Amino acid sequence: MKPVTRIRTVGADPTQDPAVREAGLKIKAGEVVALPTETVYGLAADATNADAVARIFEVKNRPQDNPLIVHLADADEIETYCETPGEAFDLLSKAFWPGPLTLVLKAKPLLKETVCRGLDTVAVRIPNHPVARAVIREAGVPLAAPSANLSGRPSPTRAKHVYNDLRGRLELILDGGECEVGIESTVLDLSEGKPVILRPGRITRTAMEAVLQTPVTYLNKTEQERRSPGTRYRHYAPKSPLYLVHSSLEPETFTELVRFLKGRVVGPIGYIGSRIQPGEDKRIKVIAYKATEIDRFAHDLYANLRDLERYRVEAILVDGFRESSQTESILDRLKRAANRQLSDEADLQRFMEQFED
Ligand code: TXA
Ligand code: MG
Repeated sequence: MKPVTRIRTVGADPTQDPAVREAGLKIKAGEVVALPTETVYGLAADATNADAVARIFEVKNRPQDNPLIVHLADADEIETYCETPGEAFDLLSKAFWPGPLTLVLKAKPLLKETVCRGLDTVAVRIPNHPVARAVIREAGVPLAAPSANLSGRPSPTRAKHVYNDLRGRLELILDGGECEVGIESTVLDLSEGKPVILRPGRITRTAMEAVLQTPVTYLNKTEQERRSPGTRYRHYAPKSPLYLVHSSLEPETFTELVRFLKGRVVGPIGYIGSRIQPGEDKRIKVIAYKATEIDRFAHDLYANLRDLERYRVEAILVDGFRESSQTESILDRLKRAANRQLSDEADLQRFMEQFED
């Protein structure tokens, strides 16, 4: 029988909250529970319990070879699970924990059979969301927690997103409101000497370089897929095709693109950006952002994609931001979600030739 899924709101003091107590008991008993973190909602279970970890994969339909991040309450516990981390680890953990940074380190045996999925490294992070922290303490175990979406869907940043994806697949979702950051943590690999970014996030490359006083780089695509299995799969796909409009696209080319799409799709079109004003065009559902509103854009991104789906838009146009250290993470997610990127007139011509309806 399918479990009945309940959403329980957590009050002002999570450490004394009965919903948090229930979550802790469930996790100790080997069950999975969804909870808020400062980045996105996570689907948490006891990282030391192989059956509980297997349940996570089942509930979100996750590919078996994709490893999970382990969430701890304190950096002191790291040495139980990871080989001696070193100086870069000390500097970064002091600067950014608790917070939206995940560090990949050489794994000790303890979690190899649960979260590592065949890798000899383990990804760890100390979240700073009070509900996540209270649940880790209450459960008394490290929490394995991927984003609490069905595999392939945008990550959830509100409890109702989790409910929409996972209703009937788990018993308890803790509601701690909207996630502050809105996109997943930065993943930085420290396991092979030089620090490399496997996934950009709110903690930027330049911020980490300032702390480490050494360059932080990205891997090429082949190395990236070897060292970060999650990037092999298509992510964050909304149900309608998403077209990413580069900030360099000329206004006239953009107008031509909109005119073309309106002639090819029958239903409404979604637009996120500042080139069209709300109410300007009845067929276009506009969600307005200025080019300076980077944090607000990230905070709302996945919620906006899910909202546009509910409007049954047939295509989504999103204005990209100019590339900078601060926008790297947003552009990364948009590029993964996009069916197509358009940066100039030649792209538009090709797009129009190849378009099928
Ligand atoms: O913000 C976040 O990180 C959220 C919250 C819930 O903490 N979690 C999250 O987990 O985004 P998930 O599973 O959706 O994404 C984790 C990413 C995946 O791309 C996975 O492949 C990668 O981290 N990863 C996990 N362990 C790894 C390891 N040992 N080496 C390389 N990549 C790893
Ligand atoms: Mg995920």
